[in-house]
Amino acid sequence: MADVAIITGASGGIGSAVARMLARKSDGALRLGLHYFGNHAKAEALGKDIPNSFLVKADISTADGRRTLLEAALKEGTPYILVNNAGVDKPHEPALLIQESSFDAIINTNLRSAVFLMKDFGKEMMGAGSGVIVNVSSVLARKALVGSALYRASKAALEELTRQFAAELGPRGVRVNAVAPGFIETAMTEGIDEAMKEKIRSQIALGEFGQAEAVASAVGQLVENDYINGAVLAVDGGMIL
Ligand SMILES: NC(=O)c1ccc[n+]([C@@H]2O[C@H](COP(=O)([O-])OP(=O)(O)OC[C@H]3O[C@@H](n4cnc5c(N)ncnc54)[C@H](OP(=O)(O)O)[C@@H]3O)[C@@H](O)[C@H]2O)c1
Repeated sequence: MADVAIITGASGGIGSAVARMLARKSDGALRLGLHYFGNHAKAEALGKDIPNSFLVKADISTADGRRTLLEAALKEGTPYILVNNAGVDKPHEPALLIQESSFDAIINTNLRSAVFLMKDFGKEMMGAGSGVIVNVSSVLARKALVGSALYRASKAALEELTRQFAAELGPRGVRVNAVAPGFIETAMTEGIDEAMKEKIRSQIALGEFGQAEAVASAVGQLVENDYINGAVLAVDGGMIL
């Protein structure tokens, strides 16, 4: 059976860069599961560029969606890599205006999905004796920004759970790490107004926004370096120093 790498949100900016990076590095040795939710066109175009890949559509904020993803992966081979990348940052609500419905949407998509995918894929990896999980957090796990309360909470919890799973799965051959991107130019950030963008840019030591490829490269390092476990690697140009 082939070794399988699952990238959630491969239809998005960072996810597609991660998928291309893994395809390049593995040179056909890994079967890549390109997960998407609403953007079939983007996922299909990516799949055409990566011959040894398959597409999976699933709403991973739900248990049914996560089951679909796991079953699709097991049909193709043995899970070896899981990149929990899919996520949402909206709605942007100031702290005193947060809604219960927003809590469900953001926490279920960013946190519940990653936790239960780590659990289910982690079990498979432990059974096989090896595996690597990389979670995509955010610089906002450690930085306040008006309108990002629920998003911050989801990412801060994801970082703690990265360390917890690393401690519990490490002894069984499965490493768990995270990357924490800063401001990366993707669909998630393109709607931000220019004044706000300039304010954010002024807080970045390197003075420029990041590209999805920089995040993908960091994911690649966490996959390859077999002595990194439980780490959160910032990819933010020095946004919090
Ligand atoms: N861009 C940044 O500045 C930045 C900074 C820090 C952290 N991050 C994190 O990086 C990750 C990727 O973000 P991005 O910038 O690449 O954003 P993006 O281009 O908007 O991609 C988001 C991805 O998440 C998927 N998704 C959303 N809701 C989903 C659901 N319920 N079920 C399954 N998939 C779902 C989307 O799928 P469809 O499009 O197919 O619906 C899409 O592939 C996120 O976790 C984000 O929080 C981004």
